[in-house]
Amino acid sequence: MTPAVPTLRCPVTQPGSIAAHGTGDRHSLYVHLRQDHPVYHDPALDLWVVARYEEIDEVLRDRSGAYSPAETYAPVQSLAPEAAQVYDSIAFVPVTASTDPPIHTRFRRALTALWPTTAGQLQPWQKHIEAHAVEAAEEVAARPSGSGDLESDYTQPLASRVMGDMIGIPAEGLDCVTAGSSNMSDLLWGHLDPATQHTSALGVQKLWNYCLTLIDDRKKHPQDDLITGWLDYQAPDGDNLTREEIASMLMEVLSTNAETTSLLISTTLHHLLTTGSYTDLVRHPEQIPGAVEETLRHDPPLIGWLRCTTRETTLGGTRLPAGVRLLLLLASAAEDEHHGLQDPHVFDPRRPSIPTTLNLGAGSHFCPGALYVRLTAAAALEALTRVLPALTLHPDPGGPTRAVNTILRTPRRLPVTWATGELNGTMLTGRHC
Ligand code: HEM
Repeated sequence: MTPAVPTLRCPVTQPGSIAAHGTGDRHSLYVHLRQDHPVYHDPALDLWVVARYEEIDEVLRDRSGAYSPAETYAPVQSLAPEAAQVYDSIAFVPVTASTDPPIHTRFRRALTALWPTTAGQLQPWQKHIEAHAVEAAEEVAARPSGSGDLESDYTQPLASRVMGDMIGIPAEGLDCVTAGSSNMSDLLWGHLDPATQHTSALGVQKLWNYCLTLIDDRKKHPQDDLITGWLDYQAPDGDNLTREEIASMLMEVLSTNAETTSLLISTTLHHLLTTGSYTDLVRHPEQIPGAVEETLRHDPPLIGWLRCTTRETTLGGTRLPAGVRLLLLLASAAEDEHHGLQDPHVFDPRRPSIPTTLNLGAGSHFCPGALYVRLTAAAALEALTRVLPALTLHPDPGGPTRAVNTILRTPRRLPVTWATGELNGTMLTGRHC
């Protein structure tokens, strides 16, 4: 059943909350917030919502210690006792995303020692990712029905297989990772009834136990993968990673990766298909990186991110108490009128240049997956436009597929059909270079 999409109204002047900004027309809500309530307290979420580029940038790049990511993994919704008991029992250690220096420095170093963050480090993976993308696109094209849902049939399995290979997750474990990661974002940032909270908490616990099993297995049977790499990792000061720390880093990398990469690809496809620009990319594949970049800006997978205050401070002229949580509206910052972009509310895959956005973070916590997701998304589009150049989006895609989430952009179904034949000399299926 498709969840109802709530109508967004000004949460300050009318009863309501920004909790549902992942659905509906959030662009007009953001304009209103940036103009009239750039920093305000949402009583339903008990979060201070920050809407403008300038203040979000200030918080993310803060070096004074006024802001901390310490509560990144504290659920935004209050958990019912059954769910809280399960979630609290998980021996998750705060690692990269939820720590401040010097602890953050230690985990960030261990992460980037093994996870590729530069073009040179990613280069050996490039052919591999491209091959996975072509294989996944050909699997879709081989469907006799000539139709499918690109979200569940293409972007999700592709992102999951690539991630599995990069990290060392065997094919039979991918479903557990995908389900556990969705459970994690639902539990942390969704708004669920107590029974669903409990089911989600059990899913997160299952993922945690799976991470521990993988680590124990790699201790006995080392492989050429990230998990074995962390087990062998020699920290400069000799403070090597413990089993629980590796499991926590694994959980973090899996959960940040599993949903966002697939979302970036499916959202790009959604915009390309609804604006008719997909065909342009079939003819001009060199425009693909620009289309990915524009989606990252205009409709990012993570529409918000979290920080908390460590002391009383002032942000954008608003006094913030110590110990409160902030919801940084990343998607709003990316369309801030004062950030030098023409028509920021318009999706334009041919923009000549895009100013730096905050949609992958900024400062010392900047997303280590930034290059990887761009590469994977570009490979996915390149393969699909080549293998299935004539895609038509179903006129009624059926709306969002998941419950309202405050941080993660709600995934959409992408039901499409395709035809065979020729388009100005280009084969409509199975085009080859
Ligand atoms: C389109 C996909 C992605 C988006 C939109 C995204 C976005 C973000 C954002 C907004 C942050 C917070 C940065 C901050 O606090 O300043 C972050 C951090 C992080 N991301 Fe990503 N991410 C994506 C993909 C990935 C992937 C594929 C990985 C796999 C390695 C990853 C791993 C992480 C980690 C470990 C952190 C914490 C880094 C730190 O605290 O030092 N992300 N990401």
